[in-house]
Amino acid sequence: MCGIVGYVGSEHAKEKIIDGLKRLEYRGYDSAGIALPVNGKIEIRKHVGEIKNLEKIIGGDDYDAPVGIGHTRWATHGAPSDINAHPHGNQNNSVAVVHNGIIENYQEIREWLQREYGVAFKSETDSEVIAHLIGIYYDGDLLKAVNKAVEDMRGAYAIAVIAADEPDKIVAVRKDAPLVAGIGKGFNLIASDIPALLKYVREVYFIENNETVVLTKDNIDIYDEKGRKVKREVFHVSWDADAAEKEGYEHFMLKEIHEQPKGIQDTLFKRLADDNSINLDGITMTKEDIENFNKVYIVACGTAYHAGLVGKMVIEKMAEIPVETDIASEFRYRDPFVDDKTLFIAISQSGETQDTLAALREAKAKGARIMSVVNVVGSSVARESDDVFYTWAGPEIAVASTKAYTTQLICMYLIALYMGKTKGAIDEDYYNLIISELKALPDKVAAILEKEKDIEKLAKKYYHKEHIFFIGRGLDSGVSYEGSLKLKEISYIHSFAIAAGELKHGTIALMDPDTLVVALATQDFLYEKMVSNIVEVRSRGARIVGIAKEGKNEIEKVSDEVIYVPQCIDEVTPVLAVVPLQLLAYFIAKERECNIDKPKNLAKSVTVE
Ligand code: G6P
Repeated sequence: MCGIVGYVGSEHAKEKIIDGLKRLEYRGYDSAGIALPVNGKIEIRKHVGEIKNLEKIIGGDDYDAPVGIGHTRWATHGAPSDINAHPHGNQNNSVAVVHNGIIENYQEIREWLQREYGVAFKSETDSEVIAHLIGIYYDGDLLKAVNKAVEDMRGAYAIAVIAADEPDKIVAVRKDAPLVAGIGKGFNLIASDIPALLKYVREVYFIENNETVVLTKDNIDIYDEKGRKVKREVFHVSWDADAAEKEGYEHFMLKEIHEQPKGIQDTLFKRLADDNSINLDGITMTKEDIENFNKVYIVACGTAYHAGLVGKMVIEKMAEIPVETDIASEFRYRDPFVDDKTLFIAISQSGETQDTLAALREAKAKGARIMSVVNVVGSSVARESDDVFYTWAGPEIAVASTKAYTTQLICMYLIALYMGKTKGAIDEDYYNLIISELKALPDKVAAILEKEKDIEKLAKKYYHKEHIFFIGRGLDSGVSYEGSLKLKEISYIHSFAIAAGELKHGTIALMDPDTLVVALATQDFLYEKMVSNIVEVRSRGARIVGIAKEGKNEIEKVSDEVIYVPQCIDEVTPVLAVVPLQLLAYFIAKERECNIDKPKNLAKSVTVE
């Protein structure tokens, strides 16, 4: 996500801030900016694209100060652009703010500021309201003004603020988004992430939720929600810069696997209102449009395609409409039957995959309505779609996709539920049941992650296998494709996924005592059939790792190992079942000493055909 860096001391803030921002580049960003108080006024410079674009426009020594704040933005509200980049100033740039996270009630605040104070907004961001709020409350005391503004704001955020009239301090606040203060000698720093600080300091204070921190060159004062000073232990950072980027995890992939509860939570709650209805902010598709569709195509590549396989089943079930999921490179050349009664859903983490984009254009030219599920705001797929359901996974750095997949699944459920409810294909009780099952997923995923040591043990046992098969039925078959892809991508083990009922038509010929079969059996109504399929492969000598819901113990009799996932309704199990498969792939690749985050021959975003 976005990055924050602030410096207060007696040297050039500009240099330190740019340096800190560069250390956050690995996380991905689309624009960068800096604000410094110069000659009684705050100067803000910001630019879309790389930090080097910003460096070109920030000029020489006359544009500098011993205090300042900077930001790398990953767009959420409003496309990547110079204007939407941070910092944001108030009307006369007497205060400036950088912000990570989301202000949920920004529309309300924006309208109020326009009505009561005639504020003219420059950007489309939620963040700009913070600068105006603070500007309006400011009467010479920045801390007071920030505290008052925070009372009006709802959401999850970290902010850092400077004021032209108090050019010796930074005020920062943390609410559900990370913030860390770096303790220097004659200077202090604030940042969203440790890597931004490591060149200058090793001693830090972690700022806790609902705390405000005031930094001057010699002091760091932390206050709790009630304004009482808080004493915080100093934390000594011993990680090197590389480990700090991964927040102590050995690889980005493992970090991203662990970020799934949050990604799922964010993706879901961005779209769920308090009454469980799906909020369609930015979606223009009407009831008439939905009733007009007679088919849906879901088109994507790689992991996103696998999310589409699950999407097909849930949309067909909940919205009662035929869905075809296709690989983008196939769809674009097969002259598919598309017209103005077609809903075309593109799924893409990056929003830049060439084949997906070409398929989208093909469908658009034939009159389809285009919806996309995308992780990168302002990406090509998002821009060329009629409607976008964003995944709120945050930047995904490891080439093997994990948190993008589970958040794509969440979007599939939201789309299916929304269409089903609008068409009257599902009743209120079923709708509420699925919503409550979705809401329970973050905790259930976290519970699986707590058992990762067990999965690591399994990996140590089986990492030397040459062939690993994945089988499943129904929704599990879609998940088995993803499990198999994860494994081959990062461990280079030959792997193959197949619908379990299809085994007997050929693939069973490959089963022998050297084969490992990962058998997914999470669908209650298909459980017995899966157990029979497991028996079939086991009788050919294959070793079995079963995946089942807690309480479905029958599988133990026919498996060598079983990994249990928490109980849940069949429809949402893919979000749980995939997690042990991601971990299994990860730990097997680790045992085989593979380059997990950057596997050979693969790219994160494939922008060529
Ligand atoms: C590449 C990546 C995969 C990804 C696929 C589609 O092959 O290595 O992890 O699933 O592209 O990418 P997209 O950005 O469109 O989801």
